[in-house]
Amino acid sequence: MRRILVTGGLGYIGSHTVVELQQAGFKVVIIDNLSNASVDVLDGIFAITGVRPDFEKLDLREKATVHAFFDDYDDISGIIHFAASKAVGESVENPLLYYENNVGSLVYLLQECKDRDINSFIFSSSCTVYGQPDVLPIKEDAPVKAAMSPYGNTKQISEEIILDLCKVSSVRSISLRYFNPIGAHESADIGELPIGVPQNLVPYITQTAAGVRKQLSVFGNDYPTADGSCIRDYIHIVDLAKAHVLALQRLLSGENTDVFEIFNIGTGKGTSVLEVIRAFEKTTGISLNYRVVDRRPGDVIAVFADTSKANTVLGWKAERTIEDALASAWEWEKKVRQLTN
Ligand code: WQD
Repeated sequence: MRRILVTGGLGYIGSHTVVELQQAGFKVVIIDNLSNASVDVLDGIFAITGVRPDFEKLDLREKATVHAFFDDYDDISGIIHFAASKAVGESVENPLLYYENNVGSLVYLLQECKDRDINSFIFSSSCTVYGQPDVLPIKEDAPVKAAMSPYGNTKQISEEIILDLCKVSSVRSISLRYFNPIGAHESADIGELPIGVPQNLVPYITQTAAGVRKQLSVFGNDYPTADGSCIRDYIHIVDLAKAHVLALQRLLSGENTDVFEIFNIGTGKGTSVLEVIRAFEKTTGISLNYRVVDRRPGDVIAVFADTSKANTVLGWKAERTIEDALASAWEWEKKVRQLTN
């Protein structure tokens, strides 16, 4: 059985991808430094699949540690690389932390791929590389703009580094540019575990509904959109996780037609903040306490994906609705808070 390394595999997207990998028949080893995840997530994965993945707590910024890992685990067929810092605001305050962690670690991982003939590398990227696009929906060949933050810049630079390596080695890679992942596994055994005050919309909504937060602030309703609030492409985390398995299988079977391929992973549908709130209220029957406040600096007005390339080339399509995602997010929140209603 092929063993796959999932870095950041105890995180939100990583853990959901580990479940899908195991259910697709892969053996998984996780590397995570637990800076933004809990080791208890292993129990959640086990509860769903009945298989406890191997887990190594280590920091990918330590080159010697990374090298030693691959000496121990010498049967890795592919890597799905999630481990990275991802708070946009924090990256503005502390850019060097982001370049060291997100770019430095990537270089150490890629060096091992090159030296050990690990030739299937899936990279976790983000629609943030498009900035505020000129054309919607966004295609993969849309110009990658001056990133809106050091975080976004690390994703842009990382893709360029990977391409440069693929051009001169047998390493083959696929970058998945995510839009806005939301929701949780239907079992409610794994989900999003934001540390501290959630930066993202949906966990803030569910924590408000659970009474953990007093009121949701809607960051602006004076944008040039139908209802004045920003538009995003919210994709169910399980649909996103499944895209990673397909991308990995594509590389392992040699079906890729380029040394480095990029796919937008979204639903192809834009939803405004106020529409998300209404959908949450309709799905859960809960009236959400929110108020409109000033715009959040750095927010783009509208961004949603053209997913035709992922649909036709990768053979992937989002199957779950935003209502499915919001319902699952609420079930997860209730479980985390041990609420009954
Ligand atoms: C969505 C919308 C906010 C919180 C970020 C990263 C992106 C990716 C996903 C990593 C915006 C509004 C939010 C709140 C609000 N992360 N909002 N009140 O900013 O689109 O994307 O997370 O890869 O790279 O940039 O997601 O959920 O923060 O915001 O009104 O309390 O919800 O203004 O319009 P975003 P988000």
